[in-house]
Amino acid sequence: MTGTGLPMTVPAPGLPARIRIHEVGARDGLQNEKSVVPTEVKAEFVRRLAVAGLSTIEATSFVHPKWVPQLADAEQLFPLLGDIADVGDVALPVLVPNERGMDRALALGARRIAVFGSATETFAARNLNRTVDESLAMFEPVVARAKAEAVHVRGYLSMCFGDPWEGAVPVAQVVRVARALMDLGCDELSLGDTIGVATPGHVVALLTALNDSGIPTGAIGVHFHDTYGQALSNTLAALQQGVTTVDASAGGLGGCPYARSATGNLATEDLVWMLDGLGVETGVDLGALTATSVWMAEQLGRPSPSRTVRALSHKE
Ligand code: HMG
Ligand code: MG
Repeated sequence: MTGTGLPMTVPAPGLPARIRIHEVGARDGLQNEKSVVPTEVKAEFVRRLAVAGLSTIEATSFVHPKWVPQLADAEQLFPLLGDIADVGDVALPVLVPNERGMDRALALGARRIAVFGSATETFAARNLNRTVDESLAMFEPVVARAKAEAVHVRGYLSMCFGDPWEGAVPVAQVVRVARALMDLGCDELSLGDTIGVATPGHVVALLTALNDSGIPTGAIGVHFHDTYGQALSNTLAALQQGVTTVDASAGGLGGCPYARSATGNLATEDLVWMLDGLGVETGVDLGALTATSVWMAEQLGRPSPSRTVRALSHKE
């Protein structure tokens, strides 16, 4: 490693003291890999992420195996993660689109699930084979069952800032579907910038509109893909608005197989570098996390796109 491996800490005003990172590398990252990663490697990845201090690690998806073959081993993977509990108080949410997915997730003891809606009709059709309203109807019994079983529900909302087929997405359209997800009973909402086109003013405008519609900022997470290099700026803008849940992907893995213009998520290392510098606590050990992404990059056979991973693992 070069330098000290850590930035100098210089706090800035108006930021939370601590945030929670919702790590999505094992799900959003690996769902988009051309090759299918062996189940044991996925389990080792999740275990290393937990050891590095990540406390919420999205593990896999209980979707149709033909739609996302990369995660078709959810039944084999989830039981391998039992020992993660020994690492600490780690939550392992999983994606569930419908009742069939919920049956599968509950049968394996999942305690946190995420449904995933779309702000646009085109992406709802491509990703869920439904209209926006049909997908909400599909989620309704899933969320009701989760509530009955005290399972925590995250509601993802994709294409909040732009859509590759429909272009600009009006804020009011996003607010309508966000409200509908919260009205179903979601505990948390994650705002997806699926194709990475958001800019900070847009983030502030959407958070303000969601607040005005009665959704508290404390219930909102941000999920930025880094296609245009805006993810960190957008995250800082969201933190300044009071957001304390940030989605990120170790090594910057990621994308969406049903939106080809989606690239990797905000890299967790890039996020932790900024937050360490700002003195915002994350509980993450940057060195251990970087070593995990270097190891994962070796498994995948190509270097991590994360600037921080590359800088910290650069050998003189
Ligand atoms: P469909 O073809 O409309 O399914 O797909 P269906 O309800 O008509 O059922 C057809 C058959 O599939 C039935 O079997 C079902 O049992 C079976 P048959 O009776 O014909 O033998 N089936 C299932 N099998 C296993 N597990 C299931 C399941 N559901 C149905 N869960 C469906 C609808 C929702 C299933 C499909 O569209 C799907 O799986 N989509 C998932 C797409 C996906 O995972 N995309 C990536 C995640 S979203 C994302 O990455 C964005 C995010 O990161 C945020 C952001 O960046 O914006 C979250
Ligand atoms: Mg995503």
